[in-house]
Amino acid sequence: MKIVVIGGSGLIGKKLVNDLRKRGHEVVAASPSSGVNALTGEGLAGAMEGARVVVDVANSPSFEDRAVLEFFETAGQNLLAAEAAAGVGHHVALSVVGADRLPDSGYMRAKVAQESLIKASKVPYTIVRATQFFEFVGGIAQSATEGQTVRLPPALMQPIVSDDVAAALADIAVGGPLNGTVELAGPEPIRMDELVRRFLAANRDERVVTTDPHARYFGTELNDQSLTPGEGPRIGSTSFGDWLSRSVPQGKS
Ligand SMILES: NC(=O)c1ccc[n+]([C@@H]2O[C@H](COP(=O)([O-])OP(=O)(O)OC[C@H]3O[C@@H](n4cnc5c(N)ncnc54)[C@H](OP(=O)(O)O)[C@@H]3O)[C@@H](O)[C@H]2O)c1
Repeated sequence: MKIVVIGGSGLIGKKLVNDLRKRGHEVVAASPSSGVNALTGEGLAGAMEGARVVVDVANSPSFEDRAVLEFFETAGQNLLAAEAAAGVGHHVALSVVGADRLPDSGYMRAKVAQESLIKASKVPYTIVRATQFFEFVGGIAQSATEGQTVRLPPALMQPIVSDDVAAALADIAVGGPLNGTVELAGPEPIRMDELVRRFLAANRDERVVTTDPHARYFGTELNDQSLTPGEGPRIGSTSFGDWLSRSVPQGKS
């Protein structure tokens, strides 16, 4: 069947496009770099012609509070309107585990706004909430760095590798709409400060992680329930340790 991947050039998008093509589907990898812009609406109608499923794995270029809200609201409205017009039968969107528990974070508020538009629309849907990607750990470190210090809370997480997210999305995209939400998480719980310490050590990065329960994560304080999944998430198979040993540049391990 024809499947459109919005954000098809991104970290998850590229893997998802490959996975769906290997399964024999006709896949459009849609993003501004290929002339499809969910914010302006450019190219959306053409991309969606004859599509049965749309998977939205786009991300905002800016994480600034107002910009990110504007991105997910406007893109969400444009996508759902184009899908309704084209008769698309399944909208799949990638969101974040715990988004609704973190209203102090502008990014999480924007993901909740994206989810609300989907739930209110007439297009059948599945919302997939994932925990943080292993590939995002460097970004977490960067966002919390001042000089040589990385100040982070010891909050529990259960991160997942992007390949496992893409594989789960491919299964869900070709299944029927659930009109509900599923959660994805990695195989092991780990505390945020410890996760970043392991990442920096493996990369021979000399920054020092300081544990501070009140340190903010993208604008919000965290507790052990903030970023961890509820009952019965789908669990990825790759451990952080295995990924780290594969992804550390040669000469660093
Ligand atoms: N990072 C995490 O740990 C995490 C955890 C859970 C969920 N998520 C969610 O996962 C999703 C994908 O993240 P990612 O890391 O794969 O993103 P990414 O690598 O930053 O890729 C972003 C994609 O969005 C596209 N895009 C940007 N502006 C667009 C627009 N106006 N219209 C259409 N497409 C546009 C980009 O296209 P161009 O290349 O053409 O610019 C690119 O393909 C996000 O929705 C995020 O909220 C992330």
